[in-house]
Amino acid sequence: MQTILVTGGCGFIGAHTIVDLIQNGFEVISVDNLSRASADSLLGIEKITGKKIKNYVIDLTNKETTEQIFKDHPSIKGIIHFAAYKAVGESVEKPLDYYENNLFSLIHLLQLAVKYHAKHFIFSSSCTVYGNPDAIPVTEQTAIKTAASPYGATKQMGETIVQDSATAHPLSTILLRYFNPVGAHPSIAIGELPIGRPQNLVPAITQTAIGKLPKMHVHGNDYDTRDGSCIRDYIHVCDIAHAHTLALQYSIKNDKANSCEIFNLGTGNGITVLEAIQAFEKVAGIKLNYEIGPRRVGDIVAIYANNDYAVKKLGWTCQYDLNEMMRTAWEWEKSLAK
Ligand code: WQD
Repeated sequence: MQTILVTGGCGFIGAHTIVDLIQNGFEVISVDNLSRASADSLLGIEKITGKKIKNYVIDLTNKETTEQIFKDHPSIKGIIHFAAYKAVGESVEKPLDYYENNLFSLIHLLQLAVKYHAKHFIFSSSCTVYGNPDAIPVTEQTAIKTAASPYGATKQMGETIVQDSATAHPLSTILLRYFNPVGAHPSIAIGELPIGRPQNLVPAITQTAIGKLPKMHVHGNDYDTRDGSCIRDYIHVCDIAHAHTLALQYSIKNDKANSCEIFNLGTGNGITVLEAIQAFEKVAGIKLNYEIGPRRVGDIVAIYANNDYAVKKLGWTCQYDLNEMMRTAWEWEKSLAK
């Protein structure tokens, strides 16, 4: 059995990835200090897979306590590193918290991966690294622009730290650039649990629809796009999760030391905010209470992925369409209200 350490395993993408890893025969250990996630995710994972997952409630910025995991589990073959702060707005207010948490945890994990020969290292990156791209769809070779926030900067710096580590040490590393993960596992046993008022579009939609929020605002409809609202590449969290399993299997099969490969994880379809809202209204049979508001500082106008490389090299294909994204997100929101 191949043991994989998943950091941020109680988080939105982490929990969905653990389910997929288990269903593909991996043994999984989680580490999550529960600062931004709930241990309830572990109950959901158990409900779906029948497996109780060990979660170390450890702060990865403490190298000594983190090393204990590797002492307890000398057979860790790979690491999938999700644990990080990820709120764009918060990162502007608290840049030093973001640099300390996101970079120190990564550096410690890489040092321990080298020391304990956890050779396969998958880093959770983001399309944010592209900034406002000159041309869309973006490929993995599209030029990286200056980050629009400290959060984006931690992802750009994180990619460089992983690349340099793979050059110097016999690690096999992969950078996965997510576009906009949304939706919930079809069992509705796990899903997205935003803390406080949701910043992201789909939780804002579902919380407005269920009445947790009185209304939501579309952040601008005067952009140079087909309907004036911003374009994004929304992708189901289960498609993102399965891509991690495929990336790990790819890394283990190729077993290429000193390697670092990059993959875009998007559907390849650009959807506007208004189109996303219309898709939700159609699926939920609800008229959503929203207003057009001012643009949000830091928003890019349009981005979506060219995912050919992931499709070709990982044998990855997206299984969930926009309707499934909205349906599962809505079913999950309704399950939270029970
Ligand atoms: C999408 C679109 C908003 C809320 C960020 C990070 C990215 C990843 C996902 C971490 C934008 C509009 C939103 C609302 C709105 N985070 N919107 N009303 O900004 O593309 O990406 O979150 O991994 O790295 O950069 O996602 O969902 O916040 O916004 O009109 O109430 O929806 O303006 O155009 P974003 P988002």
